[in-house]
Amino acid sequence: MANRRPSDRRPSDRRASGISSRRPSIDPWRLVPMDKVTHISGSDDFNVLFIGAGNIMFGSDEGPWNHSFRFEHKLGRRLKVVALIDPAIERATAVLQKKCDSFVVSAYQDTRVFKTLEDFVKNMAPKDRPRAVIVGSPPMFRGSLVPGRDIEMQILKYFPGVAMFIEKPVATGPKAEIQDAFTIAKTIQDTKTICSVGYMLRYLKATQMMKQIIDENQLTVMSTIARYGCAYESIAKPDWWDKSKSAGPIVEQGTHFCDLSRYFGGEVDISTVVAHSLEWDEHAGQLSKMAVDESKIAPENRIPRVTSATCTTVEPSGASRTSLLCKGTNYSCELEVYADGYMLKLVDPYVQPTLYMRKPGDDHEQVVRFPDDDPFFSEVSNLIDIIEDIEEDPEAAQILSSYEDAVRTYELTWAIREASERSRAAAKAKAVAAGKTQ
Ligand SMILES: NC(=O)c1ccc[n+]([C@@H]2O[C@H](COP(=O)([O-])OP(=O)(O)OC[C@H]3O[C@@H](n4cnc5c(N)ncnc54)[C@H](O)[C@@H]3O)[C@@H](O)[C@H]2O)c1
Repeated sequence: MANRRPSDRRPSDRRASGISSRRPSIDPWRLVPMDKVTHISGSDDFNVLFIGAGNIMFGSDEGPWNHSFRFEHKLGRRLKVVALIDPAIERATAVLQKKCDSFVVSAYQDTRVFKTLEDFVKNMAPKDRPRAVIVGSPPMFRGSLVPGRDIEMQILKYFPGVAMFIEKPVATGPKAEIQDAFTIAKTIQDTKTICSVGYMLRYLKATQMMKQIIDENQLTVMSTIARYGCAYESIAKPDWWDKSKSAGPIVEQGTHFCDLSRYFGGEVDISTVVAHSLEWDEHAGQLSKMAVDESKIAPENRIPRVTSATCTTVEPSGASRTSLLCKGTNYSCELEVYADGYMLKLVDPYVQPTLYMRKPGDDHEQVVRFPDDDPFFSEVSNLIDIIEDIEEDPEAAQILSSYEDAVRTYELTWAIREASERSRAAAKAKAVAAGKTQ
């Protein structure tokens, strides 16, 4: 994998460091739990603009995500949500009403609802200028230069210098628009805009402990293996089951594990991606507890049940990743990282993150559990600390997923989807040639 070799190492440069990769890392013990954090001192308001009034922003039964809750805990009474942008005005109004009926009313009592960012800008009082714009709209409306899907460029235009947080994946538009996303990344870099992308698993204490072990032992990662099994019966959003809307499960969800693979393994040589899938119309792909009516989705847009892929990184080494659908309410996910006699296995990162480790010369498997770790909070907390720039120690806060890095993960997920579709088409052609239909 594309890791910096010991001879290239610059130990003093943690931001750019990582024997395991050139990606930033944080001392895992600096990731303070939400209930132990003290509110940032000061009484000045911290204006935040939310884009999207959905599950990621306000929570749902789908999982532990809920950005508003983390901002409330990080900023306390300083938090002022100046506006909530969502074309679904009723939904936005309803979530705000709930907040105003609760003890966090001070953050939301003056929040205004707008259908578009432009409407907000036209009606914004100078005192409502945001310090951070948090984007949790669906990815099909972002990551592009096409008007209406170019929210990042709009934010950069209306609010130069204002920090952004963008949910993953950076986009789900046509593959041809990946170049647009790279252009956005370059604009963000050129304008030195603070920007964090929602690959929150990078902020797990377990993830950072793995990084620390790799760094301290000057290891070069040899291989990563990722398995992502979602609890499909809990996913009731029709768009998620429709490739034309979500771009499919690897691009929309498996992306977290493709991202972690890159975080540890380094840059992928996209030309080496090989993938296979088990499709909805194959016998083993039948699902008995789907929460949506799949017959309403065009057959060509129905999603695969299993996708497995392998690839190598820009330095010769192997990486492999797999994604499949599980039943139940909890996801079943694992990431294994191998390096010269070391095996680091991250298990159950969404629910009870646990790290299993084997080290050279020791057959014993060490187990470290991380109860109550909250990577969503750490992600928000690090962003705010960077915006506030109050840390004396420059290594304390880090953004672990930049926009450009996230675009590379997006590019990889598209490559996996396309490779699996190519394999599928080849298998079908072979079956037809052999006189069998699949
Ligand atoms: N990091 C994680 O683990 C995690 C978890 C859940 C969701 N997400 C991501 O968050 C994003 C949103 O997911 P969600 O579950 O909240 O979806 P959702 O469907 O629950 O909510 C999306 C909201 O955005 C609104 N919207 C639509 N178009 C818009 C536009 N142009 N501008 C502003 N708002 C618009 C919709 O009306 C809706 O209220 C997705 O990218 C998803 O992948 C990440």
